[in-house]
Amino acid sequence: MIKACIFDLDGVIVFTDRYHYLGWKKLADEEGWKFDESLNHQLRGVSRMQSLQIILDHNSLDVSDDQKAEFADRKNRYYQELLDDISNDDLYPGAVEFVQRVRDRGIATALGSSSKNADRVLTALSIKDLFDAVVTGHDLTRTKPDPQIFQLCNEGLGNLPVTECVVFEDAESGIAAALAAGMHAVGVGDADQLPNADQVIKEYSEINLDQLLANGRVR
Ligand code: BG6
Ligand code: MG
Repeated sequence: MIKACIFDLDGVIVFTDRYHYLGWKKLADEEGWKFDESLNHQLRGVSRMQSLQIILDHNSLDVSDDQKAEFADRKNRYYQELLDDISNDDLYPGAVEFVQRVRDRGIATALGSSSKNADRVLTALSIKDLFDAVVTGHDLTRTKPDPQIFQLCNEGLGNLPVTECVVFEDAESGIAAALAAGMHAVGVGDADQLPNADQVIKEYSEINLDQLLANGRVR
């Protein structure tokens, strides 16, 4: 029986993955770098500095640490400007209702996000109370695909057996982190972009909750 559902934030609960993309895109356009949706997919779930490094490597650029800090700060400023206008329209359809249904069945819920802006998003949308434990980029020393984030979520829930935890993720790095933690990994998004997920959903309405709670399979 499943005892906990753990959710990523950006691209799983709220479409802030789009705003991360737009923040990097604005920086890349200003600097004349190559940057597209396919490179952006590699940045999902990855910390800000590591995302920047992936973009710099893609453009064969070697820059000083000070310059890296300036680039990362600038992207974060653009991202936070977009967050200023965030509203319920940015929520992934059915996500909040699904988390609530899980809770109504007595199942623990946690949020595990690599983002240092996660609290800001949860507060702006008044959804922090949906989660029994919240782990963000501020709590991490290792980024996804390292399992640390989901292990910390589980610690916050009282250390349940990992095979009784299901992780919902839109990032390849997040699916890898969940599997490395020994948990079930449900992809959220396009199945062809998440080949290693146990199963993939596009809409929360696809999930058979009884089935999920019985054996971790969404259908
Ligand atoms: C993850 C996003 O949730 O957080 C990544 O998928 C992002 O795209 C990462 O880079 C770090 O976010 P932040 O807000 O700390 O720059
Ligand atoms: Mg994500």
